[in-house]
Amino acid sequence: MTKRYNFPEGFLWGSASASYQIEGAAFEGGKGESIWDRFVQTPGNIDDGCTGGVSCDFYHRYEEDIAIMKRLGLRVYRMSVSWPRIMPKGTGEVNREGVEFYRKVLQCLRDNGVKSCLTIYHWDLPQALQNRGGWANREIVGWFEEYAKVLYAELGDLVDIWITINEPIIAAMNGHWIGEHAPGHHDYSHALLVAHHLLMAHGAAVKAYRKTGLKADIGCSMNMQMEYPFIPDDERDVEAAKIMMAHQNEFYLDAIFKRRYPAEYFEILQSRGVVLPEVLEGDMELIGQKIDFLGINTYFAEYVKYDAARWPVFAAAEKTGREATDAKWELCPDGFRALLEWVQKNYAPDKIIITENGAACNDWVKQNGKVEDPNRREYLERYLAEVAGAIERGINIAGYFYWCFTDNFEWARGYTVRFGIVHIDYKTQKRTIKESAYWLAEVIKNGGYSL
Ligand code: FCB
Repeated sequence: MTKRYNFPEGFLWGSASASYQIEGAAFEGGKGESIWDRFVQTPGNIDDGCTGGVSCDFYHRYEEDIAIMKRLGLRVYRMSVSWPRIMPKGTGEVNREGVEFYRKVLQCLRDNGVKSCLTIYHWDLPQALQNRGGWANREIVGWFEEYAKVLYAELGDLVDIWITINEPIIAAMNGHWIGEHAPGHHDYSHALLVAHHLLMAHGAAVKAYRKTGLKADIGCSMNMQMEYPFIPDDERDVEAAKIMMAHQNEFYLDAIFKRRYPAEYFEILQSRGVVLPEVLEGDMELIGQKIDFLGINTYFAEYVKYDAARWPVFAAAEKTGREATDAKWELCPDGFRALLEWVQKNYAPDKIIITENGAACNDWVKQNGKVEDPNRREYLERYLAEVAGAIERGINIAGYFYWCFTDNFEWARGYTVRFGIVHIDYKTQKRTIKESAYWLAEVIKNGGYSL
């Protein structure tokens, strides 16, 4: 029996990207150095030893890319601004060439009938600010507010949706605890302080935005997933999953929606020797500014085992043997459903946008000129079914942005994985629309699909 999955009129069908991953032109147009420009230079940091220095050269080829978006009928393009392209030193002087570049891109989107969703920060901090302590320095809240205000003033008339910060957890933890992202530190206490400052910076940007008179929605994008015990009746796995739920999800959502940090998680961390972030009066109020939507970025669910070697959470995700994408991320649409239900039950945001979701596949251009990517389509079919189902059950999901539009520089993995619905030949910069993109275009046109 076939089933039909429907999406409302005006559903925000989009695709996402981030400046350092796609722009290239790393040292052009007056741009300053970012922590990623620096991080990629240390051997061993990036799997294939490559950098985002050129990547898919969006800086010079954005018109071609936007023409493809139009052709596919995408309604929204999510992109981010490189902070050091706007302010090479992070504060103070504004680089007019940088402003002009983003104005041209945003205008081009508008001319092509594609709405813009602009992420203010997607991880490429000016190196000049890292040299002053980066996200671990509380002063960054003010630096970020200054930068956000420049964007509101310079680009505000052309932006349809704002995202303050992309995935504070990844910027904090992968950058400052696991160390596989810039700036590559390894200290959980430090990472938690960074997370607190990222959340404060988010709040400061929202607060400043409300004073501008701009009317577009503003929110943030959280990286979230369900954390299940690997063995449901093993007490230690249950505890491990619980702490990972707090580490991954509750810390950030409690702060924004409830203006507090999870008490039990903090107690456990402290008992294990973590130095908790200093939370001053007014901090939680700042963080808890009302947002217009919650952006959810999600790719998989985690099945967690107790792991004595992993201080201070003592928990690590294990593979379960389900089907996995090329990033080795296991498909778990039922975990996606559970996540949406969990968010709705505990935080009831006014609106949700899935600001990232997608699959890496081993794609290549065949002799017939096509990129056939049935696994990505299958991933989309399964995950979109959950979006449609959640909408049917009354959860207000206003949009879905596929990650990513074009293949690109995937952080520590370099160019070893391809997430795009548009294939990039990095030698020639040739774009090829993948079969999954044509399928998605039909779904958009028909307001849904049948399976
Ligand atoms: C998310 C990031 C995005 C991309 C995808 C695969 O965590 O926000 O930049 O790397 O994962």
